[in-house]
Amino acid sequence: TLGVSIKESCMNHYAVFGHPVSHSLSPRIHAAFGRQLGISLDYTTIEATPDAFPQALDAFVTAGGKGANVTLPLKEAAFALCASTSERAQRAGAVNTLIRNDGQWRGDNTDGIGLVRDLTGRLSLDLRGRRALLLGAGGSARGVAPALLDAGVSELIIVNRTAERADALADALGDPQRAHSRYWDDAGAEGDYALIVNATSASRDGTTEFTLPFQLANSRTLAVDLNYGEAAIPFLAWARAANCRDVVDGLGMLVEQAAASFELWHGVRPDTAPVYATLRDKDAALVTAD
Ligand code: ATR
Repeated sequence: TLGVSIKESCMNHYAVFGHPVSHSLSPRIHAAFGRQLGISLDYTTIEATPDAFPQALDAFVTAGGKGANVTLPLKEAAFALCASTSERAQRAGAVNTLIRNDGQWRGDNTDGIGLVRDLTGRLSLDLRGRRALLLGAGGSARGVAPALLDAGVSELIIVNRTAERADALADALGDPQRAHSRYWDDAGAEGDYALIVNATSASRDGTTEFTLPFQLANSRTLAVDLNYGEAAIPFLAWARAANCRDVVDGLGMLVEQAAASFELWHGVRPDTAPVYATLRDKDAALVTAD
């Protein structure tokens, strides 16, 4: 009926899907962007396991869903159910942003550009011609590796507990001049990294300690954990002990990937600085930037 279609077109309905997702900061971030730009929107969290995800997404569309973020462990599942995907989503093999277009989902991935914007913008790190070390070869690592290459690193060294997965990621990046896998011991011997990225899930339980060799880092190294809050504490403690120049968690990346998703949906780019500052202030446990 006319009543229903008017109601639906007035609704700007967005959500983040994940499992678990209840503690996600994305609703706060998108609400703040919307207020900043005078765009009224409604952004919620939707809990879904990979099995339940397709149905949950259908229900979301029926309720007027226009776009969604997708977080762990659903990024590969989201990629699989898109009618079309961006090149950067294809390179990551994962989707974190869904855009409703002509009754179909288009998938994009803003994680990599989010990390790079945080590093090069907020943290003023020039990655061009510098060496980067990526710890981990799972979904998170795959999401950010292409963007690090695009940012112009001279070399991207990938190390992973399971060496074969590091080899596979290095191969998949299709840039044999710059992307290499290494065993842990060899990566330590090379040292002199401008950037060390923790993309492992090792300390998501908040307990696992990082026992990497200190010679990986020096006083010019920026260390970043893609996790934020408690899950980032063990790696950041290691990075501080290793005397890194800067030590940051993934909060900046989270805000930047959200801004890139927001721009895809609404066509305008929010100012991330005040939103980042508010989130950083709000929760002392999140303060990790030196
Ligand atoms: P995500 O989507 O968060 O990347 P994932 O795809 O399961 O999750 O990948 C987890 C990453 O953390 C992998 O690189 C994993 O190493 P393996 O490939 O050897 O499994 C890494 N990881 C998880 N627990 C770890 C631990 N205790 N020590 C070192 N690496 C660990």
